[in-house]
Formats: sequence, structure tokens, C-alpha cells
Amino acid sequence: MRCPTVVATAGILCLAASSLRAGEPERQPSPNAGAIVRVVDSVLAGLTLQEKIGQLVQYSGGWSTGPSGRRISDEQRQIIRAGQTGSLLNVTGAAETHELQRIAVEESRARIPLLFGLDVIHGFKTTFPIPLAEAASWDPDAVELSARVSATEAAASGVHWTFAPMVDIARDPRWGRIAEGSGEDPYLGARMAAARVRGFQGASLRDPASIIACAKHYAGYGGAEGGRDYNTADIPQRTLRDVYLVPFKAALDAGAQTFMASFNEIDGVPSSGSRFLLTTILRDEWKFDGFVVSDWNSIGELIPHGFAANPGEAAERAINAGLDMDMESHCYRDSLESLVRQGRVTIATLDEAVRRVLRVKFRLGLFSDPYHGATPERERQELRNPAHVAAARKMARESIVLMKNAGSLLPLPPNLKSIAVIGPLASNHGDLVGTWAGPTDTNDVVTLLDGIRETAPGAQVTYVQGCSIAGAETTGIASAAAAARQSEVVILAVGESEDMSGEASCRSSLELPGRQKDLVREVCATGKPVVVIFMNGRPLDLSWEQNHVPAILETWFLGHEAGHAIADVLFGAYAPTGRLPVTFPRSVGQVPIYYNHKNTGRPTDDQEHYTSRYLDLPSSPLYPFGFGLTYTSFRYADLRIARETVKAADTLLVTITLTNTGLRAGDETVQLYVRDEVGSVTRPVRELKGFQHVHLDAGGSTVVTLSLPVDALAFTGLDMRHRVEPGMFTVYVGPNAAEGLQGRFQVVPQ
Ligand code: GLC
Repeated sequence: MRCPTVVATAGILCLAASSLRAGEPERQPSPNAGAIVRVVDSVLAGLTLQEKIGQLVQYSGGWSTGPSGRRISDEQRQIIRAGQTGSLLNVTGAAETHELQRIAVEESRARIPLLFGLDVIHGFKTTFPIPLAEAASWDPDAVELSARVSATEAAASGVHWTFAPMVDIARDPRWGRIAEGSGEDPYLGARMAAARVRGFQGASLRDPASIIACAKHYAGYGGAEGGRDYNTADIPQRTLRDVYLVPFKAALDAGAQTFMASFNEIDGVPSSGSRFLLTTILRDEWKFDGFVVSDWNSIGELIPHGFAANPGEAAERAINAGLDMDMESHCYRDSLESLVRQGRVTIATLDEAVRRVLRVKFRLGLFSDPYHGATPERERQELRNPAHVAAARKMARESIVLMKNAGSLLPLPPNLKSIAVIGPLASNHGDLVGTWAGPTDTNDVVTLLDGIRETAPGAQVTYVQGCSIAGAETTGIASAAAAARQSEVVILAVGESEDMSGEASCRSSLELPGRQKDLVREVCATGKPVVVIFMNGRPLDLSWEQNHVPAILETWFLGHEAGHAIADVLFGAYAPTGRLPVTFPRSVGQVPIYYNHKNTGRPTDDQEHYTSRYLDLPSSPLYPFGFGLTYTSFRYADLRIARETVKAADTLLVTITLTNTGLRAGDETVQLYVRDEVGSVTRPVRELKGFQHVHLDAGGSTVVTLSLPVDALAFTGLDMRHRVEPGMFTVYVGPNAAEGLQGRFQVVPQ
């Protein structure tokens, strides 16, 4: 049962005494747009050309003093004093950032506050599950709380801006950064994107617990060919708009103040130099008024792309496309002044980029309190506090997906006498935080072994590693099998190391790495009841386990509270509720494979030779999008559609009767999919358009009502216009993308 979400109460920020001096422009506008426009323009008018360029230059790392002992160099101090940078990334610590900010607002001429950025992706000091795991919760409220806790801790340490949420749609599990997003579906991805923006930015950006969000990587980064990071993404505009851009628009609608331009090209144009993406769509169509930052050296990478001949041309193409801030290429620092003096970049273009950056700084309240409420005392209060740890455990529990449970092996009985805990991830601290874990301490990660020992104190728990994650040695497998033979139950933790997913960490195989497959087979050969727990950053090929192992949990990388959360599920304190946010293939040979695919002219039929299929493998996935089991079972019955015909402005109500047919209470995620049967262009066989969590006691039954706004059926038609097309639609309501009751309705013209 999902507890009511306790979102961290936004503190009431008493605007700090201004650091203004007499005669300066009023810099404490109320957050209303008109005041900010006037003040931004007055600040802009007072800047020199060099100071304007400085606002568009971001430096990374190595800029702090304090516990690290590193001193700010005289050169760095001079860069800030001269107003040659507007933002630093990878600098944390209330004390460290305070000294840098003090230089900016007290020693420089223009006294414009710095913006401190960091990748706060799934936690700061308290590490939450990786974003793909969080998406498996299908719980936007819990994900919002996760982002809120991350923001609260980061803000207390002087961070103003996170380069998150990563909202890239990923249909290829070979791609390492699938771990960092919310999977393959635009609707679920949009819900998660909006939840994370709300969590990071809070109800008010002036709340000292709020930080600026950054929707990334704009756009199409997840479409990399071959699942190889940074590779070409040849995405047709219709797919770009109706699949890849959907979560970005949701992030913008939730108020995201920044976007990050991506490394990849689409159809010959690198996103970091694409006026179509950065201006036509983002500004002209979507009216975005925040700013865009490059991804690391993506402006400089326009040169190897063959899109610019030199850093000056790269700077020219990027800023004229609409890319406002240069993260680390220094093309803007080195070239913008001469480009402006030559007229290749107009002062109006430069001013608009600076205006956007200043606007975001004002919205965050930095001109009223450049320190945004960060103090060492607040840092001590917020980092890893019990409420944050509890939120991490709740999020981790909800991220776990039960893939198989033959004979109801799970939950394990509380009175077990002997348990063998085996595998290279069973007593592993460092990998459980996953990729992009941030400045966390993994020593206090709760391992699976810790969690089992705490939860089953009466049992004799024997731990054997068996083998390493990626190594070739097998000497430990025999002792692992021996430990299994001497125990009532075996819990086997296998998977990937955290560095096998994430940036520049793609795999050509979806197999368990190293000799873990041998370990699984030998342990299962003992005939003991085995629970296999997967810890990984992407869908893996679980085919053998699905056929030979009685119970399987997909636990991804769950962060600090991994061991507690998995033990809660293993022993029944929490019945699993997770549902897959991404398809699990039978083999890497099926990739790309995703549920919202087109039907083709020869729809897949494994019984018909001349259809879209493989000779050597069933065409269906091993586990479909939306799949997940729990410790009871549910029956869907009696689908009813309130009206047989609707118009685009209507909302259609669809009901089903759900019954808990098992012996335990449980939670079901009822999913609503739609198929547009005929369109001016071909349409997916299914599209997720809604879901609802339902808790039912054993034997309980309820009528579940799902509402479908008909305008959610809009798509980009043959004429590239986005609208609902009249015609027949099939609606499916069920437990995942491969099952469910169905009905039909018609959309008629307005
Ligand atoms: C990296 C990543 C991006 C991250 C940035 C700053 O290259 O692509 O997601 O935010 O650099 O660390």
C-alpha cells in the first residue's frame, strides 16, 4: 500500500538582507514576470561585453577550498573577480561555495551571483535507486519525493542547479544510459519527468530546499544507433515529436528552468547546433524562457562532427542556434568577443542568451540571497537525516519487480533456520548505488547480506561470493554450491557492476558478465529452492533463469537502502509492486524491441512463415513493458466504456472490475492502453495512456474507473499537424502491455 506521500515541507524563505549597495539597480523583484524583465534588463544594460560573455561560460571542478584543503588559485579568483564566469559545476559544500560566491558578489564589478551546478541524478548524500528503478515504481509521488530529498540535501551543500532529470526515451538496453532515464514509454517518461522537476524545483524556487532542474539530453540522445553512446540518432521528425520529445515537453510544462543540449546528431544536425531544436521547437513553439546549457564539450564536438571547422565556427553555430551557456568547451570564452565584433553573432543574440541566464538566477532568488540559504549548519541537519533514509527505503521497495514466483516460494517464512547468501553482489557496497550516484559515501550502503541478517536474526546465514562480477575465475563456485546444499533456501545475487551502465558504458551483450551464469547453474543444480536477485542497470537476458529458477526479483541498483528494501520484499514486510518501465528481450538479437511498435503490413505471427518474425526465437519479449507480479493474483472483468462515441474535447471513462483472487492483500497497477486503428499515418499497436494503483485485501473486489482525455490521442499526422483524428480506437485495460480486456470506441469530428 503506497503510504500518503510526505513531501518535504517547503521552508518559508525570509529573503535575506540584500547585498545591494546604494545606487545599484533594484535587484529584489517579486517573482512576477514584469518585475523580473525590468530588473534583468537593467542589470544587462550595466554589463560590459566581456561580462556578458562571462555569464555564458561555465567551468568545472577544482575550484573549492575547505575540507579538501584545495585553495582557490589566484587565477581562479581573478576569473571570478573579472566576471569571466557565471557558473561552476562539480563544486559542493556550503563553506566551499560560500567563499567562491562571496568573491563574485563582493569583489567583482558587476557582482552577479554564480550558479553552482552538479549532477544530482538520484540522490546527493542519501542515494536513491537509479532512475530506471524509480520508474519501475510507476509512482510519480514517490519519485517526486526522491527528487525533493535530493534537492534538499544538495541545496544545503550550496548546489543551486542539477543536471537532471534525464528524460531520454531508450528502446535499446545495450545503451548504458538507459539506467539514467525512465525507460521506453513517452507517457510514463513524461509522468516521471514532471515529477522530478516538481521535486527538484518545489513549489517555489526561492525555497532554500529548491534547486533548478535541467531536462536532458535534448534531444534524441537515446536513439543512438547500435545502442552505442554518442552515436548517430537518425530519428524522423514525427517519431521525434511523438516519442522522444514528449517527456521534454512534460518537463517544460512542469516548469523546468533549463535544458541541456545533447551530444548526438539527428539527421545530420548535431543537437547542440540545431536551430530547429533549440529555437524553432523550444522557443517558438514551446515558448521556453529559461536557458540551454551544452553537455560538457558538445559545442567543441561540433568540430569532430564535421559541423564546424574550428572553435570559432562552433561557437557561432551553437549560439546562433540557441545554445546559451557553454559548459566546458571554452569556445564561447575564446571566440564570442571576436564573433560579436565581426558581426557573426549579433549583440541582440548575445544579450538574449545573457537575459535568459540572469532570469533564472533571479527566479532562484540569488540576487536576494546569493547563498540560497546554504550553511554548514543546514548541511549537517539535512545530509542523510532519518527522514531522507526512510524515503530512500520506501522508494527502493517500490522499485523492485517480482519477475517469477513459482510455487509461491516468496515471501520466505520468518522461521528459516539456514539461508545461503551467494553471489558477487550480495555483500557489495560500491555497486549498489549505481551510476551517477553523486558525492555519496558507499560505506554505509545496506547490502543484501546486511538486510537478510537483520531481517532473519534466527537463521544461520552463510555467505559465499562464488565468483566475481566480471572475472574468469570459478574456484569459488564449488564452495557456493556446497553452502547451498547445507541450507534450506538460497538467495543468489548476480548482475552487473555499476560501471557497466551509465555514460560511455554500453554492452554488446545482455548476458550476465563473467562466470556468473556458471554460478547460477551450479547453485540451481543442487536442487535447493533458489531466489535469484538481479542487480543491474539495464534489462538483461533472463531466459535461462526464467526456465530454471523458481523465484526472480529484478532490483536494479537500489541505492543506500538496497539491503533493507530487498529483505522487506523477500520476507513479506512489503509485497512487491514494481512494474517494468522497459521491455526485457529474450535475446540481444531482438533489440530494438519495445511494446509501442508498429503493426507492419505483415504483423508478427510465429505460426505464419511470411510475417515479421525470427526463425530461431519466439518474437515476443521475455517480459513485456508494464510486467510485474506480487504475492497475490488479480482478475480483470467486465470492461465498460461509458460512451461509444466521443469528441476530441471529451474525457472517456473506462471501468473494469478488479478482484484479488489470492490469499494476501496486494497492490495492482491497472494500465490503460489505446490503439488508433487507422490514421493518416501508421499508428502503434498500443500506447500507454493511463494507470492507477489499486490496493485490495484478499478476496476483495472493486470497480476501477480510468479516465482518458480524448485529446491525449493526438499525434503528428501526415501533414505534420498535431491533432486527434476521428475514427475507431481499441482500448485495453490490463496488468501489462501484452494482456488485458479490450473494447472499442469511436472519435467523431468536433
Ligand atoms: C556528461 C553527461 C551529462 C552531465 C554532464 C556534466 O558528459 O553527458 O549528462 O550532466 O556531463 O557532468
